[in-house]
Formats: sequence, C-alpha cells, structure tokens
Amino acid sequence: MTAVLDYHQTTKHSFHRFARSLGYLDWAAQPDPFRRYDSAPRLPLPRAALRPDLPYTDLFTGAALAAPMDLPAVGELLRCAMGLSAWKQHQSSRWALRVNPSSGNLHPTESYIVWNGRVCHYAPREHQLEVRAELAAADRVNAGQESAPTAFLVGLTSILWREAWKYGERAFRYCQHDVGHAIGAFRFAASLLGWQMSLIDCADDEIGALLGTSRDQDYADAEREEPECLFLLTRDGHSTIDVSTLAADARSATWAGTANTLSRSHVEWPVIDDVADATRKGTKGKGDGEKGTELARSQGPREKGTDQAPAKLTARQTILQRRSALGFDAASPLPKAQFLSMLARLRPGPPPWDAIDWPPHVHLAIFVHRVDGLLPGLYFYVRDASARDELRAATNPDFLWEPTNDSNDSNDSNDSNLFLLVPTDVRFAANRLSCDQDIAADGFFSLGMIARLDSALRERGDWFYRRLYWECGLIGQVLYLEAEAAGARATGIGCFYDDPVHEALGLSGMTWQSLYHFSMGVPVDDGRLTSEPGYDGGW
Ligand SMILES: Cc1cc2nc3c(=O)[nH]c(=O)nc-3n(C[C@H](O)[C@H](O)[C@H](O)COP(=O)(O)O)c2cc1C
Repeated sequence: MTAVLDYHQTTKHSFHRFARSLGYLDWAAQPDPFRRYDSAPRLPLPRAALRPDLPYTDLFTGAALAAPMDLPAVGELLRCAMGLSAWKQHQSSRWALRVNPSSGNLHPTESYIVWNGRVCHYAPREHQLEVRAELAAADRVNAGQESAPTAFLVGLTSILWREAWKYGERAFRYCQHDVGHAIGAFRFAASLLGWQMSLIDCADDEIGALLGTSRDQDYADAEREEPECLFLLTRDGHSTIDVSTLAADARSATWAGTANTLSRSHVEWPVIDDVADATRKGTKGKGDGEKGTELARSQGPREKGTDQAPAKLTARQTILQRRSALGFDAASPLPKAQFLSMLARLRPGPPPWDAIDWPPHVHLAIFVHRVDGLLPGLYFYVRDASARDELRAATNPDFLWEPTNDSNDSNDSNDSNLFLLVPTDVRFAANRLSCDQDIAADGFFSLGMIARLDSALRERGDWFYRRLYWECGLIGQVLYLEAEAAGARATGIGCFYDDPVHEALGLSGMTWQSLYHFSMGVPVDDGRLTSEPGYDGGW
C-alpha cells in the first residue's frame, strides 16, 4: 500500500475506534486563529460593498461585468472570500466566524495575493494586506505602477497544526476540505466581481517560493505553512502570468515580516508530515493540464432546472450570511424541484467548476429524509453520467438504480442522474454513519461524497489525493450557498465512520471511498449565543 493509501486507511473512524488524536483538548496550546507577519508593511483595504445588487444566480453564469482589478475590488474579493462573517459570544468566550467554513472553526487556510508586483498575506481580522515582498518592476503583472492590472494571483496555504491540535492524525483531511471550501469562496467572490479564475498547474515548491512560505528565516519557532494552490484571476479570461519568472524573482526579493507563533506547545503527528510530503506536487502532473482542463470545462451548458431556486437574496448577501447549522428542525421539507436544482449546480462547467482542471471524481450517496415528491430513501447522484455503470457494478447488487425523472411530466427537469437505490427510512443509518450526529438525520437530506480514490492516484499521482478533497470542499461550498438561497442552512460533516459507510453501500476495496459528508435543512439556532457583525459598521 502506498504512503497515501496507508494514511487514508490509518485515519479512518470506525465504530470501535476513532482516528488517533490526543483525545482531549489542550486549551493551553490552542492555536491563535490569526496568522500575522509582524513588521511587514500594512496596507489597509478599502471597505466598500461592490456589486451589492447582483442577483445570487449570476454567481453561476458569469453575467457580472468585470470590475477593474484595483485595491477596492481586491478588498472586496478578500472580504467576500476569507473575511469575517460574525463575532460570536457565549459567556466569556468570543470567537470569529468567517465567510469560508472550516472544520472545528480552526481555519488552517491562509490566503495570499500576488498583485501589482507585491506579494501580500491577507489579515482577515484587520482586513489588511501585509506586504511581504515587492517583486522587481520588470516582473509586474501585466501592469504599469499606476494602472490596475488585468490579472493577478491568489495563493492558498494550510497551517496543518491548527487542525492537528484538535483532530490529531485525521487533521490533514480536514485541512484539504477547507482548501476546497476556500477555493469555492474565492471563485464565488471572483464571480461577484465579474472575474475569471483558474487553477495554475505548477509545483508546490514554486508556490512556496512565490508566497515566501519556504523561507525558513521568517518562521523561527512559528508553525509552517504548507503550499496548496495558486489561481490566476483575470478580467478577460485571456491574460496570463508567468509563475516561474515571478517565483524566481521572489527568491531574490527583499522580504519583510516574520510569522507569529500560534501555539506555545505542539504535539508531533508524524503521519501528517508523511502524507503532506507524499502528496506534494512536483512539476506538471501526469494526466493533468490541458486534457483535464478541456474535460472539466467542456461539459456544456447547465441542465434545465438550475435556475429554478428562488433567488430573492443578492449574491453578496448570500455569500456573507453563510453559516453552518448547529441543528435542524426535523420537520420541514424541501420541494423536489429545488432539490434537483441544487444538484444540478454540482455538474461541471459553470462557476465554480471552471476554477479546477479535472473532471468529476466525486459522486453523491444521498440519504433523503424530507424532499417533497421523492420517497425517503438512499439515492445516488452521479455527477458524470459516464461513471454510472461503474458505480452500479461497484455497489450492492440489490440496489434498484431506478431513475427518478418522470418521463410523463414535461415540467420534470431532472437530468436523470439521480437514482433511487433503496426506498426506506434512512434517518437512523444517516445519523449513525455520521458519527451519531443528529444533523445527518434531522434535515432535508444528508450525503456522503464518494470519490474515485486508488485508480485516480495511480493514474495521476499521489498529489491528486489533496485535489479529491478540494473537489469535496467545492461541492460543500456550492451546497452551503444553495442552502442560504433556499432559506435553509447546511453543515459540512467531517466526522463519519468510513468503512461502515462503504459497507452500507456495498463498496469494497479502495476504489471508491467516502471523503466528506454534508447535511441541509431548516436550522434551529442556539439562543445562548450572541452575535455581532464581522467588522465595525457591519459593512
Ligand atoms: C471540513 C468540515 C468538516 C466539518 N465537520 C463538522 C461535523 O462533523 N459536525 C459539525 O457539527 N460541524 C462540522 N463542520 C462545521 C464547522 O464546525 C463550521 O464550519 C465551523 O464551526 C465554522 O462555522 P461556520 O460554518 O458557521 O462559519 C465542518 C465544517 C467543515 C468545513
């Protein structure tokens, strides 16, 4: 077994044993949720709501006119992707929530921009840029000093320790989910501003050099950041940036700022170091690049039904009000048309799917509890029709695989990729399999994201392990927003019993593995918490 599959196997939760962790929370070592680069020059970002009236559905169509890539727009991008969404308080504890969700609200994902010749770290609490380096003028990104550029880069890194502090060995998985959510958050914020966004195929070493996270001298005892991904943002979809030249420039640039230490003590989890090492991306990946891009982006127009969701909220409101439900009312139903419309958002092609360069590897096993017009039961939603026969052959032979579209109903917009496997009450199973969490049973539905694992890693390389989680996080981010737009709420579920899920589906081996669970319903709030806006003035 490869190191990656070994990590995956080792970090499974089972009914009898959770993946290894401390087993208690060492509050004295709780990581600071905010990374700072002390002594780096600060660039306060404008606080202006741009595009406040853009309809929610325009996030998926690319209909917004492209904003200039100036400082106000960069500020709005960061605010709507990684900014603070609220401050919560219970008794003497006060904590920030963010626009992007994170397992345990630990926020391992840090974000950077390389904009107008500057490499900047985003400090969300202050809504400031920390200018880490100025690149040589010759390498400025498609721009003179005075004018706004027509393209720039967004980079993401993970501070693996933040999740490991609480979750131990399974934490690497959660960091990767969170990267996926952050990619989605950036893609939607870019859509709000009318910008294109696409993943750049480059080596992690280059990302580390460009963002400065490979600079030992700036970290001393501070927790390191793992380079994850780099995205090109453009106004026109055509501008390009030569990352290798910028990375070479960054290597010889003068850097400012040293990283703050987040915890006063640490616990070593060597399997996390090992899997991080094994999944680092070298140069251009096998099976990646042009072919993948073409596949991922050529899946044609969206299905009928995608725009059926009621879009009373604006795009910006929807993005900023996203929250995780703490519990559901165990009563309210979701209309079938709305459910199908949400699923259709997960088909490749339009944003946010144009940001990644591989075709769907993740499909959904759905526990339907309360969808009007559908029998309660276990369903499968196949995001890429070509995977259906393979999934059918891999799952329990007793499953019905009955199409759910009604051929006699011309209003039925179902694209027939949703199949009924077993009509039955699946509330107990959903709850039990998701670590006995009520949120998996009390909503409209919950689901397991079933990813093609070992063949994908064999074909592409172990680095693809991270991308499978990014795809899951992106699915989650779409569903989080869809829930808000439908007047409901969602919650990501990282805690589930891995192999019992596979057994329930009849899956064996490592070909298909559940990587993330998710739930949606009408929320019941915890009245003990008080809430304040993320920033003064509530902007
Ligand atoms: C990858 C991931 C896994 C999560 N797993 C769970 C879970 O198992 N149970 C749960 O109640 N919430 C879970 N959550 C929700 C987080 O606790 C929530 O995102 C975090 O507290 C921040 O709150 P917010 O989403 O309202 O901003 C998960 C979120 C993410 C992104």
